[in-house]
Amino acid sequence: MLNTIEEAGSNKSTFYELLGGEQGGTEKIRTLVETFYDVMDSDPRAKGIRAMHQADLTSAREKLFMFLMGWTGGPQLYIERYGHPMLRRRHMPFSIGESERDQWMYCMIKAMQTLNFEEDLMIKLAEQLYGVADFMRNR
Ligand code: HEM
Repeated sequence: MLNTIEEAGSNKSTFYELLGGEQGGTEKIRTLVETFYDVMDSDPRAKGIRAMHQADLTSAREKLFMFLMGWTGGPQLYIERYGHPMLRRRHMPFSIGESERDQWMYCMIKAMQTLNFEEDLMIKLAEQLYGVADFMRNR
């Protein structure tokens, strides 16, 4: 199995494939998103960003799952359903600074650790997601 994003970056493999592709990758992304929101929903360190979300996290879970499927190189479920993600614009209603970015990353890293993601893959995923999370800052 390829395990560096350098290899993934050279198009030999995507994150989706590194996660197992159709054989397991979809399930891993589903479980990652579920665990991510479970952490956000229960860990006091994520209290700030939890409060920005609706009481019912069902639609947030579904949307992040669909988005990450395409973002990792799998089927573009989000785009098929909702069109261009325009993530930054969609996050404008929420006040996002360094603290919110770091809370989001905290939940994601804790979820990957909880699920025993392979270390190399976890670091590369975290690096790439950090870029996205940092881009969401609007104050
Ligand atoms: C930087 C910190 C972030 C904060 C505080 C944040 C917060 C939020 C909130 C409050 C919502 C609305 C959820 C609801 O319906 O209740 C949302 C939606 C969403 N977020 Fe984030 N988010 C962050 C970063 C990210 C990142 C890094 C990604 C992708 C890797 C992402 C992907 C999404 C997606 C796909 C949606 C659904 C958009 C839609 O179709 O309405 N978010 N986010």
